[in-house]
Amino acid sequence: MTTPIPRPSAMLAELTHRCPLSCPYCSNPLELTKREEELTTEQWADVFQQAAALGVLHVHLSGGEPAARRDLDELTSHAVKAELYTNLITSGVGLTKAKLEDLAARGLDHVQLSIQGPNAEIADKVGGYKGGYNKKMQVAEWIAEEGLPLTVNAVMHRGNLDRLEEAIELAMRLGARRLEVATVQFHGWAVKNRGALMPTREQVERATATVASARERLKGELVIDYVPADYYARFPKPCMGGWGRIGLAITPSGKVMPCHAADSIPHLKFDNVKDRTLADIWAFGDAFTAYRGTEWMAEPCRSCDRREVDFGGCRCQAMAIIGDASATDPACEKSPHHGEMLKLAEDFVAQDDDFTYRPNA
Ligand code: SF4
Ligand code: FES
Repeated sequence: MTTPIPRPSAMLAELTHRCPLSCPYCSNPLELTKREEELTTEQWADVFQQAAALGVLHVHLSGGEPAARRDLDELTSHAVKAELYTNLITSGVGLTKAKLEDLAARGLDHVQLSIQGPNAEIADKVGGYKGGYNKKMQVAEWIAEEGLPLTVNAVMHRGNLDRLEEAIELAMRLGARRLEVATVQFHGWAVKNRGALMPTREQVERATATVASARERLKGELVIDYVPADYYARFPKPCMGGWGRIGLAITPSGKVMPCHAADSIPHLKFDNVKDRTLADIWAFGDAFTAYRGTEWMAEPCRSCDRREVDFGGCRCQAMAIIGDASATDPACEKSPHHGEMLKLAEDFVAQDDDFTYRPNA
């Protein structure tokens, strides 16, 4: 029996790879798209219309830093016109009060602000951008003044996981409704920094306990989303909610991918919105059909009762660690490679490297 084609509900629109920050855990690819290769305003407007027709409800306007696009105002208007719920994912650097006012007036629905650490010293070191933290605090104030709902996004790693409680306090002080505690995922530039970023098992266990108690304490005030560390997990996360099932990502040059890191899988062929309709790519594109559903699975996933819970985990992680994107994610304890993944984590912790910063595009 063939798998019925689902409809996507969320789309990540990577408007640009340009960004003033240089975070060592950046998930953008090592080869960044140049400004002259980016989709135009009109091309994005068409993509938003096509996405809405396909069933997409939410668009995440992301990057790089989306404010690096001079036409962010027009792009926001086009997404609003397509009746998409618009979420701006930003470092805050590059936004002004006037710009935020304008975006809010155009109908922007939500802002997700990344924080690289709970104070200026840590945040500016991690982001490789002096003055970034203070700018973010200012931007958070403007977001509150506009009455826009705010999510604080905190990527946690060995260098800041012990300050998680402070990050939670900061999110509360900024008036965030939601905090995303995302333990670093190793894709793109982050792969180069595993020796600097890999948390210890003890840190991860403490963080899991901190999140559990904060969720209890802050019920009704702050929603905390938690992406735990894969390397110490028993089961993988259902990456992207399942491949080609509920979400898709568009790169700055218009490449359509089942997840933001899918081009780390070398044998996949990606279509471009300049050549083919989004609906056609979603339903029949090679990259989307490769791992959709459960029929592609081998053992142990094929006969596992969690196969429709986590969909075999993350294809990009299976590729990065085992060199086989169709294998069970090694984060799963049923994977024959699970032990190797734990050993890798210990080795990376022992390396204790300095950051290798992402270059600016
Ligand atoms: Fe998930 Fe596959 Fe592990 Fe089962 S064997 S828990 S489906 S990753
Ligand atoms: Fe690509 Fe998980 S990041 S499937």
